[in-house]
Amino acid sequence: MTELAYIVSTEVVDSWKNVGRNWGNSLHRIMSRTGSFPPALARWVVEKFSERGDVVLDPFSGKGTAPLEACLTGRVGVGNDLAPEAYVVTRAKVNPVSLKEVRSWLEHAAKVMRPDAVSVYDAEENVRVFYHPQTLKQILAIREVLFESDDDVSNFVKACMLGILHGSSEISLSVPCSHSFSMAPDYLRRYVERHGLKRPVRNVLASLMKKAEAVLADGLPPVRGAAFNTDALRLPFADESVDLVVTSPPYFNLQTYAWDNWLRLWFLGYDYRVVGKRLFGTQSVPRYVSFMEKALREMFRVLRFGGFCVLVVGDVKLGRKRVDMAELLLEPAEDAGFVPEAVISDGIRREHKYLMYLRPWQGVDREKLLVLAKGAPRKRVRGLVRVS
Ligand SMILES: C[S@@+](CC[C@H](N)C(=O)[O-])C[C@H]1O[C@@H](n2cnc3c(N)ncnc32)[C@H](O)[C@@H]1O
Repeated sequence: MTELAYIVSTEVVDSWKNVGRNWGNSLHRIMSRTGSFPPALARWVVEKFSERGDVVLDPFSGKGTAPLEACLTGRVGVGNDLAPEAYVVTRAKVNPVSLKEVRSWLEHAAKVMRPDAVSVYDAEENVRVFYHPQTLKQILAIREVLFESDDDVSNFVKACMLGILHGSSEISLSVPCSHSFSMAPDYLRRYVERHGLKRPVRNVLASLMKKAEAVLADGLPPVRGAAFNTDALRLPFADESVDLVVTSPPYFNLQTYAWDNWLRLWFLGYDYRVVGKRLFGTQSVPRYVSFMEKALREMFRVLRFGGFCVLVVGDVKLGRKRVDMAELLLEPAEDAGFVPEAVISDGIRREHKYLMYLRPWQGVDREKLLVLAKGAPRKRVRGLVRVS
């Protein structure tokens, strides 16, 4: 196995460590989702390891941060994620629509939706606990209109709905609660009682318009991309059709994506238990390595010769064990055909950390970028200094 030099940067790596938490185009803020990397990190990788006009793929795109950064910097950003809510948001970011289109969709919805014809009992009790009946009736009615079509405008409105479905801002539709993840209904019930919280009556179409205005405030990216909702082990792309792969694969089972998004999945018409069974997650190191070897082979297949594959991973605590994912993935990466180029270690200030919401004893300690190449790299990457 290759002995790898660890690398620190001179100038540029620090650019993504030191920017504020809200750095980046307003489209990034469509929806918050647990376990996402910061836009500035994606920007740094995209600019460092690809050129304008390149195709940049994230096969585990989550909320679509890397594909959006690719489109914003003149690349074709392509995202794929097996989680339905991740797909909707990724697609909204790489194929956003104008405010005018959102406005006409909302005007159309105002004419055809029938909140008085639906019953709040069309939603299960665990959903009802989040909403005032008048708000919930509108949510159910809008959902019916949204399900009629799957064009980019409907998809963009769906993504905006996911972004306001729960949270505590003045346009959030639910009782004040977390906006990053869907809270457990029993916990929420107790929390609402204990704090005497009120379920707000909202005009859902007006909230949607405000949301769209906010996320489109910085304008549309210069390039349109593409989004897919398939298993990363079977990507729908031709061999050597991608110039850069940048991704953060599942971290064992540290994130429970389906459960964390159960209410958003309900809105999209999915049962989180079914989605949870499809998404990859394990505590077992051998099973993880076997999955990642297949995923890396697929990334290798679609990547062109001379292209880079950059994996955002970390030092993970699994029970009492500590696993260095960068080290663990070296062998499967080499077996897949990659040449390991570098490991970039973080030193990120805690408040800017990728998984900063985790407690110190949980999860991920130190993020790392594992840089792999397919054959001899076509681009010289400057600004990195080998330290050992
Ligand atoms: C660490 S997260 C990626 C987060 C992303 N970098 C972001 O900033 O939002 C890993 C992603 O893998 C997805 N996933 C899990 N199993 C998958 C599979 N077999 N194929 C494709 N995506 C999968 C999860 O839904 C999750 O979004």
